[in-house]
Amino acid sequence: MEKILVIGCSGQIGSELTLELRKMYGDSNVIATDIRPAPPDIADSGPFEILDVLDEAKLRLIVEHEHITRIYHLAAILSGNAEKRPLPSWEINMRSLMNVLELAREMKLDKLFWPSSIAVFGPTTPQMNTPQYTIMEPNTVYGISKLAGERWIEYYYEKYGVDTRSLRYPGLISYKTEAGGGTTDYAVEIFYDAIKQNDYECFLSSETALPMMFMPDAIKATIDVMEADSSRLSLHSSYNMAGISCTPHMLAEQIKKHIPDFEITYKPDFRQVIADSWPNSIDDSVAQKDWGLAYQYDLPRMTEVMIDKIRKKIG
Ligand code: NAD
Ligand code: SER
Repeated sequence: MEKILVIGCSGQIGSELTLELRKMYGDSNVIATDIRPAPPDIADSGPFEILDVLDEAKLRLIVEHEHITRIYHLAAILSGNAEKRPLPSWEINMRSLMNVLELAREMKLDKLFWPSSIAVFGPTTPQMNTPQYTIMEPNTVYGISKLAGERWIEYYYEKYGVDTRSLRYPGLISYKTEAGGGTTDYAVEIFYDAIKQNDYECFLSSETALPMMFMPDAIKATIDVMEADSSRLSLHSSYNMAGISCTPHMLAEQIKKHIPDFEITYKPDFRQVIADSWPNSIDDSVAQKDWGLAYQYDLPRMTEVMIDKIRKKIG
């Protein structure tokens, strides 16, 4: 029986992934942790503890005491916020990963999940249909930390046999929990503002194409890569994931099909430079071939569900 530890359960991904893992493994077998309180459905459905992932002693205590076999390490400072506080963000993103990798090595944990990002690419990377293997010269604190993390997880696999599974998530779009301070957050905010006030001021320019993904597809891919037989995996760094490539203009046009009066204006801020350094679209053929990556949601279907769910949520 697996015993799972989720670190960062209160965030955009953790707040949904934790509940899926509890369905799979049983509520009491998934220990949820975060540095801030958990949403009520997580706090009420199973074990939750406050944990600062930099507190190595407490992390070790939980892993030992709860007989943890797998860790999903989701805690990080995302791209926009990391640019505001470079050194503390580097410390959180990197030291947390090293704490988890070392514990996994020492305690011979079964598997880890640690997400990477499209932020591992940079301005010198080919931007269209970005391949799995290509030039990677990220120029953000967040992107540098994700690329370094990818190198470390592969190192721990090759030297110590620590089996970390990882996906280069695109920008994630979801309705349950607000986005955590990234460059792709506009694609979540736009839905709330469209429904609340019929307009949105976008912090990226209208034609900024970025890869995006609806949360149910991201959760399914996360579970699928964790469940995949290791013999199917041709790499032990992180898999490209394409999702839906779209611009703010394209997203706004989809929203107008449901909210005809919706107006979008553009006021690019510091995140424009970050977005300009990331791919427009991604080639995820290696993930498709290795473990069967597939998606259920295109732009129209995702937009329809987002609007429906947020309308019900905010009334
Ligand atoms: P988020 O910011 O919404 O959630 C991160 C969680 O980590 C938060 O609940 C936060 O309280 C917690 N946390 C921060 N510092 C902590 C610490 N010191 N100890 C314990 N917990 C701490 O982020 P998210 O969007 O859920 O992202 C989760 C992971 O996925 C991150 O590694 C992120 O880089 C990656 N990712 C996210 C996206 C996306 O679009 N959301 C895209 C690519 C990669
Ligand atoms: N959504 C994330 C960000 O913008 C990408 O990793 O930071």
